[in-house]
Amino acid sequence: MSASLSSSPPPLSSAVPETQRILLLHGPRQPYKLVEDYPVPKLQGDAEVLVKTNTIGLNPIDWKAPDYNFAIPELPYISGRELSGDICQISSESSRFKIGDRVIAISTDYRDPRKAAYQSYAVSFDFNTVRLPARISYEEGSTLGVAFVAASLALCICMGVDFSDVADGPDLLKIVKEIDPALIPEDVRAETLHGISDDERARPGDWLAVWGGSATSANLTVQLARLAGLKVATIVDSARHGLRISNHKFIRPDLMIDSHDPQRAVQILQHNIGDEVRFGLDTRGKDTAAMLLEGLTKGRSTSNSAAPGGRPPSPPGTPRSSTSAHLIGLTGLPKGAATEGVTLHSVPIKLFHEVPAVGHALVTWLERLLEQGLVSPPEIIDIEEGLENVNTGLDRMRNGEIRGGKLVVRLAN
Ligand SMILES: NC(=O)c1ccc[n+]([C@@H]2O[C@H](COP(=O)([O-])OP(=O)(O)OC[C@H]3O[C@@H](n4cnc5c(N)ncnc54)[C@H](OP(=O)(O)O)[C@@H]3O)[C@@H](O)[C@H]2O)c1
Repeated sequence: MSASLSSSPPPLSSAVPETQRILLLHGPRQPYKLVEDYPVPKLQGDAEVLVKTNTIGLNPIDWKAPDYNFAIPELPYISGRELSGDICQISSESSRFKIGDRVIAISTDYRDPRKAAYQSYAVSFDFNTVRLPARISYEEGSTLGVAFVAASLALCICMGVDFSDVADGPDLLKIVKEIDPALIPEDVRAETLHGISDDERARPGDWLAVWGGSATSANLTVQLARLAGLKVATIVDSARHGLRISNHKFIRPDLMIDSHDPQRAVQILQHNIGDEVRFGLDTRGKDTAAMLLEGLTKGRSTSNSAAPGGRPPSPPGTPRSSTSAHLIGLTGLPKGAATEGVTLHSVPIKLFHEVPAVGHALVTWLERLLEQGLVSPPEIIDIEEGLENVNTGLDRMRNGEIRGGKLVVRLAN
């Protein structure tokens, strides 16, 4: 082997065609339409990579957005929030990726159609791209990206969990507080910087109640919470999910409560852990979030609360209040409800793609968690074959066939 050959720079691209297959949404309440010859998206700037899609993970928003006509920034629109595949183009030799790397691309940046998952080739920021260890299949890899990001931001930003001791994980609150506030998107700045005060941050031994425990986002939340040493109460349809969850190595809760009778579930939560439970996360919607709020509110006496950002942080050294609580809504929060003693939080998901330091900290941590077997992908309920069958998969989700795990779509390569 000659010296010049061995020292040649790594290639920036493999063979990438000019056109590709994609799915396009032409209007609300319509199926996605297959297009055979759509241009392959181009990289922009130094921080992007191109991924050849292998498997797409379907998310509830993929069918809810067209059905209820929200989160569609333009028409026609390319949708899809997560995929696994192979790196086929990088923008610079200094990229932390190389051609052929197996990766997950997490596309929370839904306003940029180049990054959408329903296409054969998708752009991703390198700080939104996760290298897959050999032990994780493409199918498994496509299940956990969005849920991991939502769970991490809920735990790290809204609850203030410090993961420094878990596979050298992030203390995201510290990271965001070191960033120029002007670089944090204005609509999530208050939640990010003032959502929780230092003395209220969740610590090992604190309880977290998760309502809607069968969701993929609940699965990752519980896995990460347990790694941080939190105790978990899962409120779930135990007739449907009880045995699986209570025997699950990674998501077995400390307390499982059946959700069938919500008032009774609140009573069980109260009678078992009462004032000890300071954190709640709801995955289902504003009605169940309201029940969880009731569970967190009952028995609390202080009015030390307001909407995120509305309450000034406690001065350093202030004794920790045992009565303030925090409720995170992934699908909505109760409107007009009394929130005495409870702060309401929405997950500032856009930090992941708009603040590179946050994205980088999360994707590199997920790589370590997967490599060390500390996090396990959610169950795959079924696999659809081919981009043209995304619509079939979304219909199965609409019909409530996919519960307690993920439906993924494998593309023919
Ligand atoms: N704010 C954010 O940043 C963010 C991020 C991620 C997710 N989310 C939202 O969080 C929620 C959960 O997302 P996920 O991906 O974790 O959910 P998921 O895993 O797809 O499923 C959630 C649960 O919903 C129930 N379900 C499934 N299909 C249904 C249907 N057709 N009608 C009624 N219930 C159905 C099932 O629970 P049971 O069998 O127990 O009924 C299922 O386990 C979604 O609304 C999603 O949009 C928000």
